[in-house]
Amino acid sequence: MNRTLVLIVSLLFMSPWVLAQPKVVLVTGASKGIGKALVNLLADYPEQYRVYGTYRTSVLADEKMIERLPMLYLNHSSPGSMTSAIETIRKKEGRLDILVNNAGMAVYGPLEELPDDEIRRQIEANLTGPMMLIKRALPVMRKNNYGRIINVTSMAGAFGVPMMDAYSATKFGMEGVCASLEGYLGAMKRSDGQSWDLHCQVVEPGFTRTDIKKSAWLADDKNLPDYFHAEWQGFRKSLDKGLKNGQPALKVAEVIKGMMDDEKSWKHFRTQTKPDREEYIKNRYGLELDATGKSLVIRPAGSENQ
Ligand SMILES: NC(=O)c1ccc[n+]([C@@H]2O[C@H](COP(=O)([O-])OP(=O)(O)OC[C@H]3O[C@@H](n4cnc5c(N)ncnc54)[C@H](OP(=O)(O)O)[C@@H]3O)[C@@H](O)[C@H]2O)c1
Repeated sequence: MNRTLVLIVSLLFMSPWVLAQPKVVLVTGASKGIGKALVNLLADYPEQYRVYGTYRTSVLADEKMIERLPMLYLNHSSPGSMTSAIETIRKKEGRLDILVNNAGMAVYGPLEELPDDEIRRQIEANLTGPMMLIKRALPVMRKNNYGRIINVTSMAGAFGVPMMDAYSATKFGMEGVCASLEGYLGAMKRSDGQSWDLHCQVVEPGFTRTDIKKSAWLADDKNLPDYFHAEWQGFRKSLDKGLKNGQPALKVAEVIKGMMDDEKSWKHFRTQTKPDREEYIKNRYGLELDATGKSLVIRPAGSENQ
């Protein structure tokens, strides 16, 4: 072997980074808000991440984004569109390393006054759809024995928020699915006796400055019985104030990227996006441990990974 060949061979064996491939990531709901901020952030790190985003209705307006990264059509009401998005990535990349289940919408109002169709729409958009997507993503992840799933839930997935009855139900649901998966995915043994390298965790943003209210369904003041008015008006005020003063979408995206960057983060189940939230949850609900028995974790944007 000549010296150059020896050098190349030793570099390949001694430096894992030489061999490291960018992780293939799918972020749903990337046409707006948190998802859009996240895919744009990840696209700035092509050596680390090869990112695919999904849109349902709004991407065609943003040509700059389509030039930067592949955007696939995905609608939680269309199982075929979810199969096709996963298949497109599998065929092109041969792998899917990380799925960020971010797409979602909100139905606001007291349960007694929600039209049945809106309850169904809420559950399909935020729970049935993302579950069907995880179901399609996991076999592809298994082929490569590496998979990470991040569900963007909400503070309303940690505790029930009055007047967000249906929304809270879906966010609790996604936390339940993830806690259940986390209980066995990595614990199961492969045929060679090794564990699968598969994990699921949730991130719980508080109010974030996006246009989520524009696509939301809100109960109509005029049709609500009088006994709901005070509670509903209070909710409307806190919603408007919260969305106006909430975290920028980019801050939430930075927290999610921090989770993806840090392999140690997978020993946690829940991640908050604001530093004061852990105390708030603990004080209000006496929570010490999360659904998997792992500790709560705070990962404020910009902080060192722990
Ligand atoms: N904003 C907040 O205060 C806040 C707080 C906590 C958690 N979250 C969660 O964060 C996630 C992102 O919210 P956001 O605030 O960024 O909202 P957003 O700006 O309204 O963006 C929502 C995204 O989800 C997509 N989407 C909605 N329904 C869908 C469906 N049925 N199938 C496929 N895609 C669908 C939208 O696609 P199109 O526009 O192309 O149709 C859009 O790309 C949601 O899961 C939300 O519950 C938000």
